[in-house]
Amino acid sequence: DHTHADTLRTPIVAVLGHVDHGKTSLLDKIRGSAVSEGEAGAITQHIGATDIPLSTISGMAGELIDPDDFDLPGLLFIDTPGHHSFSTLRARGGALADIAVLVVDVNDGFQPQTEEAIDILRRTGTPFVVAANKVDTTPGWNPQEGEPIQRSMEAQSERAKSMLDENLYEIIGQLSDAGFSADLYWRVQDFQKNIGVVPLSALTGEGVPDLLTVLMGLSQRFMKEEMAIDVAGPGEGTVLEVKDERGFGATIDTVVYDGVIRNGDTIVVGGQNEPIVTEIRALLQPRPLAEIRTEKQFEKVAEVGAAAGVKIAAPDLDKAMAGAPVRVVRDRSVDEVVEEVKAELAEIEVDTADNGVVVKADTLGSLEAMANALREAEVPILRAEVGDIAPRDIAVAETANQDEHKAILGFNVDLLQNAESDLENADVKLFKNEVIYQLVEDYERYVEEKQR
Ligand code: GTP
Ligand code: MG
Repeated sequence: DHTHADTLRTPIVAVLGHVDHGKTSLLDKIRGSAVSEGEAGAITQHIGATDIPLSTISGMAGELIDPDDFDLPGLLFIDTPGHHSFSTLRARGGALADIAVLVVDVNDGFQPQTEEAIDILRRTGTPFVVAANKVDTTPGWNPQEGEPIQRSMEAQSERAKSMLDENLYEIIGQLSDAGFSADLYWRVQDFQKNIGVVPLSALTGEGVPDLLTVLMGLSQRFMKEEMAIDVAGPGEGTVLEVKDERGFGATIDTVVYDGVIRNGDTIVVGGQNEPIVTEIRALLQPRPLAEIRTEKQFEKVAEVGAAAGVKIAAPDLDKAMAGAPVRVVRDRSVDEVVEEVKAELAEIEVDTADNGVVVKADTLGSLEAMANALREAEVPILRAEVGDIAPRDIAVAETANQDEHKAILGFNVDLLQNAESDLENADVKLFKNEVIYQLVEDYERYVEEKQR
């Protein structure tokens, strides 16, 4: 049940980190299901949201949490596939997530997508904790299923403990290099000044009680005010993904972060060409503890209150953009809301020049992140758009004045089949990568070589 009697909404927690560092496994552990086992190659294909009620959290955290200390209803977790940029998760004025868990494999430490996530967390000022995952892979580890981490540490040999410590301090050092003062979470006094590192295992569950405790504590202490919303106000949300659903056509997986969305509401959604005005035909919600991605049997609901993940079925959603705003019209005029959506989209519009490269990205948020990275690298942009690479993009790239600008930089997008031969015949270079800064680096290296 997503309608709350009180006026505090569920904090939104984004789980991010490098590929294979254990984001989905961590959520699996928390929700007691095994989504990752059912997905091809254990790769998360889409973004999903999972609502974990306070009762489940306090059940898992055991002695560490007294549910009476909390009046927040629970936590809404958003899993982000490693190959997908966290920057999709944008909302009016900043990050969609109130708080984040950065998952880092204790053995691997920081990797490219860890760095990318850190950059975005810094830029959006999102508070976060680090889950130092896979402690159970420490040689000689003696697993303590589901126990708090300090209890588990007591059960380890000196040798195992010191090997883990070494890895943990490596991560703390990497956080410091990235400009964040960090320490093991039980040593952190002020979570607004220092990043807490929680050693844990998504496999054995040890340390997971600690993570849930830290997340609840952080939300309750520092974000309670932001969680106080007008529960009956017109709903606001962000498109996570546009998906075709049998019997419904194009639908949008949406995270609602403010107000309430009702079946039959007129909504305005950011679209590829212009805002889409449409009327909700069905609100489809996964049950609590279920996963929006794998849940086949959606439940039709009359309304959804923040914060929640919901699938919206309505006509004309095929041109909706991931990362774009969703606004309920209700007691206002449609024009007013359309203007509001336009204004928000304009905020993320990329500055383009008469000269420059063509940029394509999968979502508005990643397009914005690409534009930032290119601005820092002093690479001008001729055109920037959400979507796969089409013949038109090649034609545009070919018109660039300088040879080095006859290039397309694609982030998380495909080259459309009907564009393949165009690309072969054109004097245009295509760069594709799933890590933004690597994409920019690849392009810079190409320009350097060209100039040599
Ligand atoms: P992407 O979605 O592809 O970015 O990966 P992910 O971060 O969601 O990683 P996932 O949860 O799919 O885990 C990757 C692999 O690491 C799987 O084989 C997991 O079983 C394994 N794994 C995850 N957490 C742990 C852990 O705590 N201990 C051990 N031993 N293995 C783990
Ligand atoms: Mg995953």
